Amino acid sequence: MTFEYRHLSRMLEVAVVSARLGGQRAMELVNYSKASVKNDNELVTDADRQCQQIIIDRIKENYPDHGFIGEEGTAGKILKQSPRGSDGSGVWWVVDPIDGTTNFSHRILCFSVSIAVMFEGVPIAGVVFDPTTDSIFTAVKGGEAQLNTTRIAAGEDSISRFACFGTDSHFETGPPAGIVEMMKRARLRNLGSLALQLAYVAKGSLISTTDTKAKLWDIAAGAFIVEQAGGIATNWKGEKIWPIDIESYNGEKFSILAANKKVHGEILGLLNPSQG
Ligand code: IPD
Ligand code: CA
Ligand code: CA
Repeated sequence: MTFEYRHLSRMLEVAVVSARLGGQRAMELVNYSKASVKNDNELVTDADRQCQQIIIDRIKENYPDHGFIGEEGTAGKILKQSPRGSDGSGVWWVVDPIDGTTNFSHRILCFSVSIAVMFEGVPIAGVVFDPTTDSIFTAVKGGEAQLNTTRIAAGEDSISRFACFGTDSHFETGPPAGIVEMMKRARLRNLGSLALQLAYVAKGSLISTTDTKAKLWDIAAGAFIVEQAGGIATNWKGEKIWPIDIESYNGEKFSILAANKKVHGEILGLLNPSQG
């Protein structure tokens, strides 16, 4: 099954409105939210749950039978609702209401809302919204990647001491050798929001971003926007990320390497030195 462009644009429009509503609430709550620890090692705030509810309610007004995966379910679990009936058409919405919860909970104004629409395990539309700068990154299958309705491209900058790349903010056992090498050859940036780092790869501001423990909701929209902007997104073995078996997805982690076309292969080589 394929979707007509007008259906894709309508889904994108709903994603944009929902992301804006969620992001607006996040901005209202950022100085008042309370953080707690979930699953022993992650922070969550009351705002994460409220924003996710606002986003999903809005999407459901338009697509009541579609499926949903959200980061915030009950008791530290993920939220998962399969598409219903024939009208659901196998479409899933993948939602991270606040990507950058650590920043958010410390009142650091850098976080984003990430919403992807997926069909047959592949993104067909995606939005990353940074409410702190009112920046909305979008892409739709068959269309262009955009920032605030202007086309963006991943570009062709090389690895250099003036080029910026993103990676995890925390490595339990220290950074992998390939990341240390990248820190010698280029400049490290961690924005605290992987979705936003991916959006900045799509815009050509970062030559690449990596992460060792991304969840589907961190990357579904951002990696798709990178691809639609002419960049490449794979795992650390260089394998394609899509399609994902969404029906069985339950919060498993991915490694991701998203980069512009010029440097993706080179960085992949640094991350896998024994195969060079
Ligand atoms: C986190 C952010 C962070 C990334 C982590 C994610 P959250 O998401 O995207 O940049 O390095 O892997 O878990 O918890 O803030 O939604
Ligand atoms: Ca996230
Ligand atoms: Ca989150």
